[in-house]
Amino acid sequence: MLNNVLSRKPEDNFIAEMRTMEPAYLQHDDPIQRSGFGGGPGRWEAERRPLTGGIHRAGSFLDVGCANGWLGACVKDWCGEAGLSIEPYGVDIGAEIVIEARRRLSEAWAADAWRWEPPRQFTFVYSLLDLAPPDLTADWLDRLALWVEPGGRLIVGSYGSVSHGVTPDDVSAALVSAGLAVVGEAAGGAGPVTRFAWAQL
Ligand SMILES: C[S@@+](CC[C@H](N)C(=O)[O-])C[C@H]1O[C@@H](n2cnc3c(N)ncnc32)[C@H](O)[C@@H]1O
Repeated sequence: MLNNVLSRKPEDNFIAEMRTMEPAYLQHDDPIQRSGFGGGPGRWEAERRPLTGGIHRAGSFLDVGCANGWLGACVKDWCGEAGLSIEPYGVDIGAEIVIEARRRLSEAWAADAWRWEPPRQFTFVYSLLDLAPPDLTADWLDRLALWVEPGGRLIVGSYGSVSHGVTPDDVSAALVSAGLAVVGEAAGGAGPVTRFAWAQL
């Protein structure tokens, strides 16, 4: 709780910008598009599945910015294929999209992750660099790291865009700058278009 009260937070206009994702996602019927991805199922798997390289054992997985829960459900399936049992959870700032996420995940909360305290820790916590303004990247990663069980991992991603010619950020460097111990990284898609890294807690 102390961390929540004292830590620096993004400006209101940054959070307002984040809130514009949910109505855009809700315009679609396709679950992948309702998770914010427009490239179809083949590219979805190519660009998201590499994050499971950071999942080294069975346990719980919290997706911070879970949208409709599609990613958490996929992570559960992908890890299941590798013989690892994963219990997926999520939190998202969009209250309506979380209702859908609850159908796919063990539990999903509607909250601004900058002002939310999880009711428990998780074996794996996953989120994106983009959910923080650049000047608060280390604050964001420090905050997420507190939500990881001892011996678990914080997995962080950055998504570029094929259509906009945007390359993903250097996630490993961001974790190292925050003082976290990076133990692995992965990339996905052509370019690559997604990058992931994970720190051991
Ligand atoms: C690009 S989607 C990610 C979907 C999925 N987790 C994935 O990685 O493919 C980003 C999600 O983060 C949510 N989000 C943005 N800022 C947030 C915040 N401060 N707290 C909780 N969720 C947030 C948005 O509502 C959106 O659903």
